Amino acid sequence: MKGIILAGGTATRLFPLTTTTSKQLLPVYDRQMIFYPLNVLIKAGVKDILIIVAPEHSGQFLNLLGSIFENYGIRIEFKVQKVPRGLADAFIVGENFIDDDNVTMTLGDNIFEDDFSEQIKNFKSGGLIFAKKVPDPERSGVVKFDDNMKAIEIQEKPKKWLSDYAIPGLYVYDNRVVAAAKEVRPSERGEIEITSLHNWYLKKQELEVAMVNGVWLDAGTFDSLLEASNIVKEKKIYKNFDSIIDKAIKEFSAEFKELAKKRLV
Ligand code: G1P
Repeated sequence: MKGIILAGGTATRLFPLTTTTSKQLLPVYDRQMIFYPLNVLIKAGVKDILIIVAPEHSGQFLNLLGSIFENYGIRIEFKVQKVPRGLADAFIVGENFIDDDNVTMTLGDNIFEDDFSEQIKNFKSGGLIFAKKVPDPERSGVVKFDDNMKAIEIQEKPKKWLSDYAIPGLYVYDNRVVAAAKEVRPSERGEIEITSLHNWYLKKQELEVAMVNGVWLDAGTFDSLLEASNIVKEKKIYKNFDSIIDKAIKEFSAEFKELAKKRLV
């Protein structure tokens, strides 16, 4: 299983915060946001992770994550995406990285309380996506279930109510996703939508939709960014990190403390 984190984009809704750094490098309580999607992958035992970044932030990502996990057998690669073309583009940008493997993709600003490691580890083939009942489904990809909770329809940000179940930014696909992504035609907003990939697997009856337990946050606005920090603190979600991440962050901070003493940073 390979892992991809999408951390490109300009995050204009968070200007001026994101004029100087990437949204995914902003803090959520005690660490940068990017550690949350990294945790989803690392907890599931994923050792090869590609982070897709915007050109203007590539140096900052490299400074933080370039060697932080090198003693833990986790390889981080970066790819610069000049123009965001939609979420499904990650599988085209990442084609060589994915190679012959399956892939879990997660969005850099999605924060989960739930632990998906067993589901990712046990994944065999097809597609596995998740659903969460929300009060504002029109902001997301949406999945409609029949009476037996079998997924029957999926739409991207439906204008007309379809269902209360949103599809969070965590997707597990088999290797066919690369070929499928290449077939996707751009939507009205000019993006190749991840929803088209869900539908590709749904049509083949090879899409599993599992429920998300606990909170799901996307930290894309001032309010949701603040709320994310508060909820992480209140619900002690910061305790859910894989020990590799906690250790690596401690070592990284200690190294910077030493450098600071010598006034090198
Ligand atoms: C994207 C996807 C959408 C998904 C959402 C989750 O939307 O297109 O299907 O539900 O992420 O955060 P965006 O928020 O990038 O417009």
